[in-house]
Amino acid sequence: MTATVIDGKEFAARVRGRVAQHVTRLKDDHGITPGLAVVLVGEDPASQVYVRSKGKMTAEVGMKSVEHRLDADTSEADLLALIDQLNNDPEIHGILVQLPLPKHLNENLVINSVNPAKDVDGFHISNVGLLGTGQKSMVPCTPLGCLMMLRDHHGSLSGMNAVVIGRSNIVGKPMAQLLLGESCTVTIAHSRTRDLPDVVRRADIVVAAVGRPEMVQGDWIKQGATVIDVGINRLDAPEKGEGKTRLVGDVDYASCAKRAGAITPVPGGVGPMTIACLLANTVTACCRANGLAEPEGLTA
Ligand code: GUN
Repeated sequence: MTATVIDGKEFAARVRGRVAQHVTRLKDDHGITPGLAVVLVGEDPASQVYVRSKGKMTAEVGMKSVEHRLDADTSEADLLALIDQLNNDPEIHGILVQLPLPKHLNENLVINSVNPAKDVDGFHISNVGLLGTGQKSMVPCTPLGCLMMLRDHHGSLSGMNAVVIGRSNIVGKPMAQLLLGESCTVTIAHSRTRDLPDVVRRADIVVAAVGRPEMVQGDWIKQGATVIDVGINRLDAPEKGEGKTRLVGDVDYASCAKRAGAITPVPGGVGPMTIACLLANTVTACCRANGLAEPEGLTA
């Protein structure tokens, strides 16, 4: 069997197109421009790349994009003051504080100081609780992107066995909640799971989010299963020339693609969907803030 390749790049472009249509409608019919503020503390190189890309795509769909870059030694009080200012700014509908934060800042305190209605990351404890109890919430962007691709490929996910590898607050746990909401039978596997290959072999849906390059092997995959690879790992690639690198996922693509029914590549799979879902969440937050109907197909 040759797996269907789920093209996240193309899918994300479609999602951004739908977001742009909603932005136009909000502007033309209601005189409202959705606004997203991104806060970056320090100089983490990967975070700088993400933040630049977020700013560019926010502007491309016609939204207001605001960036706040703070020094690595910014005090907690100053960061909280900025968040308070953004919480109270009527032109800002979404706030994202880029993680990880420098060590001297209390990540939970910072996340929970964002107004939950503007928490487009879905990390605030009240959004986590709402998602866990099946209520309307802001949903974390990466799991939302994975869910959109799974729904698009399968239609209904009801009754399927799903194995999520990884238990992070950003991906693994919310992904499991979303799949449970779709009536999947969900297993969360992690670094201490016994007989991981056997656990994965039972899965109709595998979501790999462990941060270990090419860990999931082809002989772990049930024939015809759908494999969603959330990993983004940069490896040295001397075969491409000195100092060159290549991106790989948490899934050994070549061997898994031989058994899977469908699979997401890295790059070009989940990655582009994350930013598209951030934009979707910002439009959703803007509609909710203004008592308007939510955009269809852009929420969980
Ligand atoms: N760092 C890595 N992924 C994310 C994300 O989804 N949101 C935020 N705020 N920071 C991140």
